[in-house]
Amino acid sequence: MYIRYVGHSCFSLEGSKKILIDPQPADAAKVDADLVLVTHGHGDHLGITIQLKKQTIAIHELATYLSRKGVTTTGMNIGGTVVVDDVNITMVPAVHSSSVEENGVDLYMGTAAGFVVEMDGVVVYHAGDTGLFSDMKLIHELYHPDVALLPVGGHFTMGPDEAMIAAEWIGAPLVIPMHYNTFPAIMQDLTGFKHAIESTTSMTVDAVSPGSGVTVSPRT
Ligand code: NI
Ligand code: MN
Repeated sequence: MYIRYVGHSCFSLEGSKKILIDPQPADAAKVDADLVLVTHGHGDHLGITIQLKKQTIAIHELATYLSRKGVTTTGMNIGGTVVVDDVNITMVPAVHSSSVEENGVDLYMGTAAGFVVEMDGVVVYHAGDTGLFSDMKLIHELYHPDVALLPVGGHFTMGPDEAMIAAEWIGAPLVIPMHYNTFPAIMQDLTGFKHAIESTTSMTVDAVSPGSGVTVSPRT
């Protein structure tokens, strides 16, 4: 599987399918996605979902909202798994809020979520926007992610200190940070984060630059 970092919290998981998660920035439109996953309604995650008009998976309330906007959706909820061909998409908790602003009013969109995607023998956990929560240990126990995509920017989500604990609990061999350095409130220097994880565990932190990516092979 090739994991392309589009930027902010947007990744494209490319294998037997192309799965785009949280399509913002607008560069996400360059990915010819088969499927779009949206973790929650905030603009920096919902992004261009409505314009893309691809098959979209989100939590029930957000999926219903999107379907009224003409998007083909599959609504699901936390703890459930949706199977699309041979890809398993599981919705997991995130500790965050979820709303969409419309005409100056915040419409609440259920709760925020994360996703565990299993494709071609590789398991990727996209945490969405979240604070640290101890049920991340269950995500390890249940799904054994190979890759953890974790927010590290602070202010709206975990910062590097909390994400360090998250990485340990999730136990994925590869950690890719997201949701940082894209606006002033979430600027972070990740030198200490990377050093602390790599010097005390066998995990690798790869701060992938927007526009590039990594290839991950299935565990043998
Ligand atoms: Ni958010
Ligand atoms: Mn966000």
